[in-house]
Amino acid sequence: MIEVKQVSKRFGTITAVEDVSFRVEAGEVYGLLGENGAGKTTTMRMMATILQPTEGDIEISGFSVQKEPVEVRRRIGILFGGDVGLYNRLTARENIAYFGSLYGLEQRRLQERIDSLSQMLEMDSFIDRRVGAFSRGMKQKVAIARTLVHDPDVILLDEPTTGLDVTAANIFRRMVGKLQDEGKTILFSSHNMGEINKLCKRIALIHKGRLQFAGGLDTLRERFGIADLDDIFMAVVEGSEA
Ligand SMILES: Nc1ncnc2c1ncn2[C@@H]1O[C@H](COP(=O)(O)OP(=O)(O)OP(=O)(O)O)[C@@H](O)[C@H]1O
Ligand SMILES: [Mg+2]
Repeated sequence: MIEVKQVSKRFGTITAVEDVSFRVEAGEVYGLLGENGAGKTTTMRMMATILQPTEGDIEISGFSVQKEPVEVRRRIGILFGGDVGLYNRLTARENIAYFGSLYGLEQRRLQERIDSLSQMLEMDSFIDRRVGAFSRGMKQKVAIARTLVHDPDVILLDEPTTGLDVTAANIFRRMVGKLQDEGKTILFSSHNMGEINKLCKRIALIHKGRLQFAGGLDTLRERFGIADLDDIFMAVVEGSEA
C-alpha cells in the first residue's frame, strides 16, 4: 500500500510537487501520469526516501517515509528512467548480485532470485555476459531485475519502458502481470496515456506539480465526458494553461 498524504516538495523557490494526495491499494497496478516536469520523479523519489517532503508524508505499507525510512527502504524496489547506472565490466548476473548483497541476501537465495528473474525477463542468453556491450533494452532489463532482486512488496517504476522495443515492452508488461499475481503493489509513471491504459485501471494525473485527478480511468472518462484518454490528457494540460 502507498498512501501519499498532502505532499509538497519545494527546491528553493521552485515548487515541484504541491499538496498531492492519492492512495494505491496493496496488490494494485497504479499509474502516475504527467507530462515532462510534472513532478513524477520527484514524487517517486520521496516515496523511496531519497528526497524528504517539504510538507506532508507518504506511507509505504504503513511505514512513514519521514519517520521510518529504513523500514520503507526494505519494502520498496525502485527503477528510475534514463541512465540506469550499471557496472559495465561486470556481467548482468554480477550487477544484480551486487545489488542483492547490499540488501543482505545470502548467496543461495540471491542466485535463485537471479535465475528466476532472468527467466521471467527472458535474459538467459545474456545473463553471464558483461553489460558494457548491451543494447539499451538489455540494460533496462538488468536494471529491472536489480530493482526486484530483494523481492520488495512495493515496486516503483519511473518510466520503465523508455528504451524498450515492442517485444521487450511486452515482456515487461507480462512481468508486471506476474508481479500483480504475486500480490505486489506497483506504481508506474509515464507521460503516455496509452502505456498507462494497458496496465492500470486507476491513475493519478499530475500537472505542474498539482494533482488533477486520482481514481479510475472510467471515472476520468465520465468526468471529462471524453472517451479518448489522450484527448483527456490534452484537455487537462491545456485547461491548466488557460
Ligand atoms: N533537484 C532539483 N532542484 C531543483 N528543481 C528540481 C529538482 N528536481 C526536480 N526539479 C524540478 O521539479 C519539477 C518536477 O520535476 P520532475 O523530475 O519530478 O518531473 P517529471 O514529471 O519526472 O518529468 P519527466 O517526465 O521529464 O521525467 C521540474 O520543474 C524540475 O525542474
Ligand atoms: Mg521524471
